[in-house]
Amino acid sequence: MKIKRLRIGVFLMAVFGGLQLLSAQKAPQFGKASIDKLIEGMTPEEKAILLVGPGMPGYAGLVPLEGEPDVRVLGQAGGNDKIDRLGIPETVFADGPAGLRIQPKRQNNPNTFYATAFPVGTSLASTWNIDLIKSVGKAMGEEVKEYGVDVLLAPALNIHRNPLNGRNFEYYSEDPLVAGKIASAYIQGIQSNNVGTSIKHFAANNQETNRLAVNAHITERAMREIYLRGFEIAIKESEPWTVMTAYNKINGNYASASNDLLTTILREEWGYKGLVMTDWFGGYPGFESILEEGSVSDVVAQINAGNDLLMPGTEAQREVLAKAIEDGTINEAAVNASLRRILEYLQKTPTTNKYKYSNKPDLKAHAEVARKAAAEGMVLLKNDNNALPFTKKSETIAVFGDHSYSFIAGGTGSGDVNEAYSISLLEGLNNAGYTVDKELQDLYEPFVAKAVENENKRREAVGLLADNKRLPEMLLNTDLVASKAKSSAIAVITLGRNSGEQFDRKIDDDFYLGQDEVKLINTVSKAFHAEGKKVVVILNIGGVIETASWKDKVDAILLAWQPGQEGGNSVADVFSGVVNPSGKLTMTFPIDYNHHASAANWLGVPVEKPTDVYYKEGIYVGYRYFNTFDVEISYSFGYGKSYTSFEYGDIKLNQTTFNDQIEVSVKVTNTGNMEGKEVVQVYVSAPANLVDKPLEELKAFGKTKTLKPGKSETLKFILKAKDLASFVDEQSAWIAEKGTYTVKVGASSEDIKAKKEFLILSDITAEKVNNTFDLDVEMSTLKN
Ligand code: BGC
Repeated sequence: MKIKRLRIGVFLMAVFGGLQLLSAQKAPQFGKASIDKLIEGMTPEEKAILLVGPGMPGYAGLVPLEGEPDVRVLGQAGGNDKIDRLGIPETVFADGPAGLRIQPKRQNNPNTFYATAFPVGTSLASTWNIDLIKSVGKAMGEEVKEYGVDVLLAPALNIHRNPLNGRNFEYYSEDPLVAGKIASAYIQGIQSNNVGTSIKHFAANNQETNRLAVNAHITERAMREIYLRGFEIAIKESEPWTVMTAYNKINGNYASASNDLLTTILREEWGYKGLVMTDWFGGYPGFESILEEGSVSDVVAQINAGNDLLMPGTEAQREVLAKAIEDGTINEAAVNASLRRILEYLQKTPTTNKYKYSNKPDLKAHAEVARKAAAEGMVLLKNDNNALPFTKKSETIAVFGDHSYSFIAGGTGSGDVNEAYSISLLEGLNNAGYTVDKELQDLYEPFVAKAVENENKRREAVGLLADNKRLPEMLLNTDLVASKAKSSAIAVITLGRNSGEQFDRKIDDDFYLGQDEVKLINTVSKAFHAEGKKVVVILNIGGVIETASWKDKVDAILLAWQPGQEGGNSVADVFSGVVNPSGKLTMTFPIDYNHHASAANWLGVPVEKPTDVYYKEGIYVGYRYFNTFDVEISYSFGYGKSYTSFEYGDIKLNQTTFNDQIEVSVKVTNTGNMEGKEVVQVYVSAPANLVDKPLEELKAFGKTKTLKPGKSETLKFILKAKDLASFVDEQSAWIAEKGTYTVKVGASSEDIKAKKEFLILSDITAEKVNNTFDLDVEMSTLKN
């Protein structure tokens, strides 16, 4: 498939004559003239240049380029275009959530431009540690700034509606409070460097299958309580410089052309002042249509709705827009508002402020940040008879599984990072001074190298649209494994999964283990247990997999996620007990894929290429569903073990009748033998007379500092009316109903340690809002 070059060419030449004429007059200059004067002095073509990006000139990866393009940062995803006559500079946007994604090498340049691969979104969120996420953001943002980039296209916080979404690894949680708080901390960290972020994908981009055109039918209540709430929290708390709209439609309108989403809610209700840009080619109905000569998204609808900047921009979009501005067929006020927001954005960029970037961020210091964050994001799912930590460094570890030798640092697609190195599990164990069985290593290394080579060849042959396939596991000789069970002290098996943009994960051989993997676990467990030795499984995955059918066969399971470039070292830190695990799940691990309420309507219809997806589960996403409908799960939302133990004291409420806020406090004590941290979760069960409600919902969370054995900390949480409220459609309002509320403080959504009640005497309208997101079809949703 030949992909057309998107650089503005003919169009610019056509307007060149006009611009020359104008430049003879005195043109208002960006930075000197007021924004009003600048807008007044712009031609329709110049307005179109500012509102539509210049294509992807430096994006090595998608658009095949001859030689090296003339861009500031090779590998940037895009940016706004410059207008020399008005002194308007171009600025640079680059991906993505796990670190800065740029090309690490440039022609005729001896320097390298590697960035740090930080842990992926699910891993970061699993820390539940706001300060830690801020430190990750601060480090990542320093790379953005020092490599001359103005905006990082992150964070990504779409809700995990279903475990199969191919991009769940970039996202944080099935719960909007967790997603919103983590995103907020991330944005604050990055923007403390005076560079921008782009919170994405706004909103309801919950599947990759036909993501450019699928129409998601969602009730207003599910939109407001689940799919928008995380954005609302993050945007209000952290003021990201930019917002990136989602590809999909919501109830018939493209997110990038939705007035409800971008004007009524984002700007009028939430007070957002920043810039909104489309996702790349957002509003084009499909990949093929992007490539079609002259095809164009509905640019007029997009700008009218409040989507300021069309990215990455095409020549056809500029032409259509310039003509609409000239003819007056587009709302002039909307055009001017968008231009103003772009110019206001430009005023604060490092580019405009002439920041002299070094191209030398402190990669060494940031690797340490990545290592620490990854270790804290690991979730100890199982640890029978204290299989971990394993401290006997002089004894041999038998290391099984392809991904022990080829560890996955992060997912694929725009969320990938070009890091200088990545530490495998094997290297991590070696660095920590462990002894690893050499014979297994010698068998695995060539096998894995070949499997990786085959996979790379397959991907190359398929081209741009190649999906991820996991590596097949080596068939092990049972005698060999039996001999290893005798000669080693413990077995480690790593299971890996990778996924990324454009594809959702499969049920078979991805969510569920493949037969080769089942065999691996069976063979190793049988042999090692026969010798009275333990088996530890390391999960090197980006999203949820099935665990119920095999978890009883092994002694410990450490969910390491895709932990970034220091991954092997981070696993070794937890394996050895240098770090006491304190991560907890931000999503449920179900027993069966079909137990998820969304499974019945996942991806939509028609099956071959879904154009319509119905969110019939309504607000019952994740634990909201499992807990309310009493569906047994494998590991619950909020779950995670520690090498120590914690005791929770009684809950204290500062009042028993709610006034305008209530303070919840609880004392947590480390009752074990090792120092550690504990994630404390506050759930609330609310009266449900006006509308049905989940059995309980997470309303606040916190993490203790490191507590030495015997030490305690009291955590305090404030709950306001909006936190307690549900969205009542008939009244277009968030209402905290009158009645009895139960506060439940727990170590997970299933492990509630203490409860206390309080009363609301009469219904409180926490917020009156507009009527938005009318359904475009008849659809009934799940009720409790
Ligand atoms: C992705 C975005 C990304 C953009 C630029 C799109 O395909 O959905 O998340 O920021 O490309 O690379």
